Order: sequence, then C-alpha cells, then structure tokens
Amino acid sequence: MLFVMERCVMAIEIIATGRAIPPNRVTNDDLAQRLDTSDEWIRSHTGIRARHLADTGIASSDLALEAGKQALAQAIERGMVEEKTPEELALTLDLVIVGTSTQDFHGTPSTACVVQDKLEARNAGAFDVSAACTSFIYGLESAAGLLAVNASRKRALVIGAEVLSRITDWNDRSTCILFGDGAGAVLIEKTAAPSSGPGRRGLLRTVLGSDGSGRESLIVRRGGSRAPFQKGEVVEIPACVEMDGRAVYTFAVKAVTDTIERLLAEEGIGLNDVARIVPHQANARIVAAAGKRLGITDDKFFLNIEEYANTSSASIPIALDELNRSAQIKRGDLVLTIGFGGGLTYGGNLIIW
Ligand code: ACO
Repeated sequence: MLFVMERCVMAIEIIATGRAIPPNRVTNDDLAQRLDTSDEWIRSHTGIRARHLADTGIASSDLALEAGKQALAQAIERGMVEEKTPEELALTLDLVIVGTSTQDFHGTPSTACVVQDKLEARNAGAFDVSAACTSFIYGLESAAGLLAVNASRKRALVIGAEVLSRITDWNDRSTCILFGDGAGAVLIEKTAAPSSGPGRRGLLRTVLGSDGSGRESLIVRRGGSRAPFQKGEVVEIPACVEMDGRAVYTFAVKAVTDTIERLLAEEGIGLNDVARIVPHQANARIVAAAGKRLGITDDKFFLNIEEYANTSSASIPIALDELNRSAQIKRGDLVLTIGFGGGLTYGGNLIIW
C-alpha cells in the first residue's frame, strides 16, 4: 500500500542529460572504399550517412562514464541540485544502471560497477540491463521502480552505452553499415512534484514487451554458455551480431506502431498532446513506415541516425541529450520514447520533461 501511495504522489523526473560520442567519424564513403557498398545504397536503405567508432582501448564503460559525468555536470550548471561539484553529486546517487549489449567484461563485473567505481558513487547500487536496443527503456523503468519503492532512495544515473564496433563483422555489408558507438545518460530524481493529476511531472507511464520466439533474428551466437569458444579452436572472426534484416524490419514497424498506440490509449491522450517522439535510431525507413501507418508527420519524430547510425542502447539517451541541450524540448513538454531490438524486446515511456 505504501508503494502505491508513494508512486502516486512523487514524480520521477529527468533533471539532466549527457552524451559521449567518439571523435573518429566514419562516413559511408569511407566504408565504400573497402566494402562493396555505396553512400547512395546506405542512405536510401537506412538514412545513415556516418557513424562514430571508438578507438582501440576504449570500452563501453569509458563512454558511459563520460556521458554520466556530463549529466552530473549539467545538473550542477543548471542549478537542478544543491550539490556544488560532480563529486559531491555522485555521492548522492542511489543507483547506477547501464544498458548495454557490449559489456566491458563477459558476465562479470558489470559495466555499471566499473562506472560506479570511476565516478566514486560510493553509495550506489550498480547493475547492467540487457534488453538490446530496448535497454534504456527497461533501465529507466527499473530505476523509477526502485526509487519509488524505497523512501530513502532519491537519485539514479541511467546510461545506455555501446561499442558495437567490437561485435560487428566488418566484412558483412548487410550489418556493418548499420552500427555506431556512443553513450547517453540521464540523471533522474524522485521529487515532490505530483506524478498524476494537475501539474503532474516526470515519468508517467512505461510499456515493456518481449517476444523471445524471435530471438534468432538478432543474435550473437558464439561466446555464451550455449556455444562457448573451445580450447584450441581457431576463431576466424570475433563473436559478432547476425541479423535477419527483413524479420527485424517487420517486427520493428509493428513494435513502434503498437507502442505508440498503447501508450496513448493507456494515458487517454492523443498524438497532438505529444511534443516529440524519440524512437530508437535503427533505421529511418522503420520510423517512416510506422509514421505513415499512424498518420504522424515526420517532424514529430526526432531522428539523428544520419550522424550516429544505430547505437543500440545509447540511441535514445543520446537523442534526449541532443534535444535537451539544444532546447528542442523544454520543461512541460510531453515526450514519447520507443525502443525495439534484440530479444526480441520493445517498449516505450511517456515523460513530462
Ligand atoms: N550495400 C549494397 N548492397 C547491399 C548492402 C549494402 N550495404 N547490404 C545488402 N545489400 C544488397 C543485398 O545483397 C541484396 O542484393 P541482391 O538482391 O543482389 O541479393 C540487396 O541489397 C537487397 O538486400 P536486402 O537485405 O533485401 O535489403 P533490404 O531492402 O531488406 O534492406 C536492411 C536491408 C536495411 C538491413 C533492412 O532489411 C532493414 O532495414 N532491416 C531492419 C534491420 C535493422 O534496422 N536493424 C538494425 C539493428 S536491430 C535494431 O536496432 C532493432
């Protein structure tokens, strides 16, 4: 009962954002120099022009740390917290959650623990979320729930971070053109604002879904307990993503339309109430097809896939940070996020900014 009461009266608000983009920018033309592809094919089939790739030695936690630090710094700069330094603010974190498919280490330790240590967030619990490109949606809802159920928890850092270039087969033109590296972060806080009724704020509602029967559509087959590398085995290519592009496309268009329709219906609102839709940046054609089905104009969707390609868990928080820093979303706007990807998984959030 206490749980229900508290969730009704306390808002879970995003108070700051950050992102980390590796400086190494690789264009479609760069790829076309060593692969049988072209800028025209990639742009017309995906909407991608470039991607940013992490240098050797940079792991997901390095990008996650940078994005997280930026979010902490922004909260201080904008006067969203009483703490005066990022170090002080890090000590107030109750949770560090990292969504990623490219953990620094296989199995353990979690990438979140590496970030927690380097941030010196000594009072925080830390864990990874593994829901492929939907990880940020799952992570945000997990963080919100964990803050809501315990009166002493107040703040969480939720990060999506990927170095997908390490699980990409750079000789497979049907997948390697799609992916990029990066990280995005949001700092969330349980505030005294209402989460329902007049003046409500923050995370209003989340949809989470999955269909594990589609797990083979997007899969890293080797290296796990199902197919571990064997002693003496000669590995031709590192463990990498295999994808049934057509199956993922069909699933993704339905996931986007279903998630939008369900969030709006459950909240009892219409598309006109939503200021911005922030989809996972997998492929501009997926978003266009879903928009056409629902009669949504292109300018309602925020797309930055052209510059960053598909950064999986990181794509939604990177987009939120771009929108936030450029004041394209402002306090009070209703923002709808949608994730979809491996698992298969999908989901979305409705957030009053
Ligand atoms: N350059 C040039 N030609 C290519 C390339 C390339 N990079 N990749 C494939 N082709 C060729 C194929 O070989 C094929 O040639 P063929 O007809 O001679 O056999 C032709 O282009 C058509 O290939 P398809 O795979 O049928 O191309 P399609 O139109 O389906 O587009 C794509 C492929 C873009 C991957 C599409 O299936 C798609 O958008 N799928 C969704 C998958 C996705 O977005 N995944 C992102 C990761 S998952 C996630 O984030 C949810």
